[in-house]
Amino acid sequence: MQIVYDTRKDLPCKALHDLFVAVGWSDGIENPAMLKNFNVPFINSTIVFSAWAEDKLVGCVRVLSDRMFRSILYDLAVMPEFQGQGIGKELVRRCRECFPDSEWLVETETAAGFYEKIGFKPNKDIFLSIPCKWF
Ligand SMILES: CC(C)(COP(=O)(O)OP(=O)(O)OC[C@H]1O[C@@H](n2cnc3c(N)ncnc32)[C@H](O)[C@@H]1OP(=O)(O)O)[C@@H](O)C(=O)NCCC(=O)NCCS
Repeated sequence: MQIVYDTRKDLPCKALHDLFVAVGWSDGIENPAMLKNFNVPFINSTIVFSAWAEDKLVGCVRVLSDRMFRSILYDLAVMPEFQGQGIGKELVRRCRECFPDSEWLVETETAAGFYEKIGFKPNKDIFLSIPCKWF
C-alpha cells in the first residue's frame, strides 16, 4: 500500500490516540481533557511528520528544535501492522533533513536498537528530570 507523508501539525486527536494505544503508550482510558488535547504537543512542536495509508494515520513523529544546534525527537510511532516497512526510518529521515547540521537526541527505553540501526549513538550524558504531571 502506498504511504503518503504529511507535515500537518493538527493531527486528528482520535487517530493519534488510536496510534498511541496500538503501540502501547496509552491504555485507552485517558481522562476527557487529555483526549480532547491529545494533539496539543504536536501542534506546539517545531515540526511534525505523519504517515498515512489512504485515510488511516499509520505513523507519526514530532520534534522540538532550536532549528540550528539542538533537536529532540518525540512520539515516533508506527502502527504495528505497518512496522518493518521503513516508515519509522523515513519519518526520522524527513525530520533530520529539516535541520541537517543539528545535534539529534531521543530518549527511549524500547527502541534503542532501531535508533542505533539508523545512525544514533548511545549518549552517556546524565539527564536529570522533573516528571510530567499528566502521566
Ligand atoms: C520503533 C519504530 C518506530 C520503528 O518503526 P518501523 O517503521 O517498524 O521501522 P523501520 O521499518 O523504518 O526500520 C528501519 C530499520 O530499523 C530496524 N529496526 C526496527 N525496529 C528495530 C528494533 N527494535 N531494534 C533493532 N532494529 C530495528 C529494521 O529492521 C530496519 O532495518 P533495515 O533498514 O536493515 O531493514 C516502531 O517499531 C514503533 O512504533 N515502535 C513502538 C513505539 C516506539 O517504541 N517508538 C520509539 C519511541 S522514541
